[in-house]
Amino acid sequence: MGIRATIAVFLVGLGTSAHAADSVEALASTCNNCHGVNGVSVGPTMPSIGGLPQAYLTNVMLEWKSGTRFSATMGRLLKGYSDVQIADLAAYFAKQPWVPQAQKIDDARVRLGAQSLKRCEKCHGNDGLPRDGETPPVNGQWADYLYLESLKYRDDAVGMSNRQMRGAMKRLSDEELRAVSDYYAGQK
Ligand code: HEC
Ligand code: HEC
Repeated sequence: MGIRATIAVFLVGLGTSAHAADSVEALASTCNNCHGVNGVSVGPTMPSIGGLPQAYLTNVMLEWKSGTRFSATMGRLLKGYSDVQIADLAAYFAKQPWVPQAQKIDDARVRLGAQSLKRCEKCHGNDGLPRDGETPPVNGQWADYLYLESLKYRDDAVGMSNRQMRGAMKRLSDEELRAVSDYYAGQK
């Protein structure tokens, strides 16, 4: 190959990778309009997504796209994304740091939450940090969001695929679910 051809191939290669890098950031900036800069949300019902595990991100987005997971917003939005774009977005957000948010929570509810953890600790610990790649961190996630999601897992009429989470949630009253949501939201 002559030097001109070599340079041309090199430039084409550069062009493609630069474009690919641009495009995941461009895609992510759409997400950040709602989820905040680097996926760190300003709350209170909008979840932070920066730093969620890659496997969890991929799984929930594919479930929304295929319609097997309930959502108010995300399902409709993700219909427009290819599986490759979803994989790129999952990798991108998984690389961002998880930033627990300081928020106003009720101390009495946090104390009650601490007593209701035994159905949760196996997977979320008492600190809300994930024990495996399928489980999202819940420490410092927004309390109102955690509570709303908890109610979805508990309700059989709402499509949420994770059987173990549905089982765990069914054993708690509304008050206890509100309390564990506040407890985990308050963890650093
Ligand atoms: C119009 C606002 C909006 C935009 C834009 C948006 N989201 Fe969301 N997102 C939501 C809402 C609201 C929820 C809560 C679930 C629901 O009701 O759909 C959510 C939930 C999520 C969750 C679940 C978080 C968790 O803790 O389980 C992930 C992951 C997510 N969005 C990723 C994305 C990605 C990636 C994009 C960009 C392609 C995006 N979102 C764009 C509003 C938005
Ligand atoms: C057997 C393991 C397990 C147990 C026990 C468990 N969880 Fe989970 N939790 C998970 C997994 C896995 C997910 C992600 C599920 C999915 O993909 O839908 C999750 C998701 C969540 C979410 C949604 C977070 C988000 O970002 O959307 C909340 C809130 C939550 N758990 C709270 C609890 C609470 C409170 C308890 C105790 C009552 C509990 N979990 C018990 C494994 C568990």
